[in-house]
Parts: sequence; C-alpha cells; structure tokens
Amino acid sequence: MTDLRPRLPSPLTEAADDRFARHGVRLLLKRDDLIHPELIGNKWRKLAPNLEAAAGRTVLTFGGAYSNHLRATAAAGRLLGLRTVGVVRGDELAGRPLNPSLARCAADGMRLHFADRAAYRRKTEPDTLGRLLRAAGAQDAYVVPEGGSNAAAVRGCRGLGEELRGRADVVAVACGTGGTLAGLAAGLGPGQRALGIPVLKGGFLGADIRALQDEAFGGPVGDWHLEDRFHFGGYARVPPELESFAADFEHRHGLPVERLYVAKLLYGLVALAEEGVFPRGARVAAVVTGRPEAYAASR
Ligand SMILES: Cc1ncc(COP(=O)(O)O)c(C=O)c1O
Repeated sequence: MTDLRPRLPSPLTEAADDRFARHGVRLLLKRDDLIHPELIGNKWRKLAPNLEAAAGRTVLTFGGAYSNHLRATAAAGRLLGLRTVGVVRGDELAGRPLNPSLARCAADGMRLHFADRAAYRRKTEPDTLGRLLRAAGAQDAYVVPEGGSNAAAVRGCRGLGEELRGRADVVAVACGTGGTLAGLAAGLGPGQRALGIPVLKGGFLGADIRALQDEAFGGPVGDWHLEDRFHFGGYARVPPELESFAADFEHRHGLPVERLYVAKLLYGLVALAEEGVFPRGARVAAVVTGRPEAYAASR
C-alpha cells in the first residue's frame, strides 16, 4: 500500500470561523480527504489493513448500488493488481444497465454479483455467507464487511487518533457504521475526547461501537460519545437547510463539503459551538472523511 504514496499524516489546518471564534473556540480541519486521490479519507484507513491481510487473495465485499465503499475497493483492486468481487444489494439490478457508480466498479475490474435482498440482509450469517460466496464463485475470497468496518479497519483508524495526539481537545467525525470513531477514540491521547455525529437515524450505534472496540481491542478504549441530533431524518437526507449550510461553508473556507457525512458533521459542530458546549480555549478538530463526487479523481 505504501507504493501508492498516501499523504500521511494527513494535513491539519485551522479554519477561521466567527461562529467558533466568538465562543473562544478554534476550529481545525483534519484533511483525510487529501490522503489519496482515489482512496479517500476513512476509505484508506479502513481498506489498507484489510488489503494487506488479504495477502493477494481475491477481496470480496458488499454494498448498495451507490456504495462509496464498493467503489473504493474496486479502485484499490485496480491500483494494487488485486482481484475484487462486489456483492451488490438487489438481484433486480442484474439485468439492467449499470449505474455510473457500478459501471466505475466494473471498469476497475470488480466482478459484480447481484444478491437478492433477503440473502443480502442475512449476509453475516455463516450459512448465507457461504451460499453467497459459492454463488459469486469466490469461496476462497478474503471477505470485508459492508462499509468496511471490521477489527482490522478499526485498528487502521486508530492511526487517525494517533496523528492528532496533543493537537486538539475534541475530535469529531461523522458516523455510519461507527468504525472510524471506534478506532479514532482508541488512538487519541489522555484528556482528548472523540465526538461522533451519526448520519443515520436509529440510536443503535453506541452498542455497535462498543462491539467493534471489543473485537478490535478486546474492550472499551478512549473517551467518546455520540451527538444524535444532526442526522436530518436519516441516511442521504439532505434538506435545503443542510444544503445551504454546506454551500456557505464551502464559500467561507474553500473546502469541498461532501453532503451525506461531512456536511452533517460540520453543521453539528457549528450548532454545538453556538450552544456554548465547547469550553473557551478548546481546539475542535473536524475530520474531513470524504469529498463531494464532483471532486472525485478524474481518470
Ligand atoms: C465520507 C464518509 N465519512 C464517514 C463515514 C463513516 O464511517 P464509519 O462507517 O466508519 O462510521 C463514511 C462511511 O462510509 C463515509 O463514506
């Protein structure tokens, strides 16, 4: 993976923002979106240890028809000369033309296998997984779970926290599966806190993060908590208020703001700063885990 020349540690920059400054708080941006042009942000941190563990075997993973994780895995396969298989949710898609996201996976050499939704839902059960692997012709594959969050990925994300030791008081990240937060919290130093902003509605994430830390580290590590008020109704919901917030943030700071995760994170941090949640003098680092599609590397 180091042949791919990741930009690590990723840059940490300060953003002058009066919504923080008037409360005596400094906003920092941890630019994980600059780690690699194609394996962006937490994708690099999660995939790198898994691709190393795969040790040349075919890598099989799962995702919906627009999954960033599938795309990143396919790109990694092309860059590293690894065979990849993507199990896609929904066998009704099998006979249809590929959408641009899946077309890119296929162009990167990923073999796509469309699974019916019932089997896809049960893919973590050993029997169903076995059947899916046989149907995809990939019994010997190294399996990476949907979203890429397994113990190796969580341990990979610990590096994010380690890079920020002593450089921030609170480090905030948007959460889907919670794998990035689980690793980040484990890497931070004493006195530093990790804050997760879930982008999905549900309230189940705390238990998932504890389970991921058990699997990766054998028990709870680090100081983390979740602020569940900024999901805007659920995954991929981008109401006009969030859209205009993101456009304004881009304008103020020249930062391309990915809408499904990063916009919710930044919105949440501005709201918390305005509520006076952060003590005066606090350094709050926002992890920029993604980049809008329009800025994706053109090839
Ligand atoms: C841009 C971006 N940020 C954050 C996340 C959340 O990561 P996690 O699933 O580890 O919570 C994802 C998930 O894939 C993502 O694509």
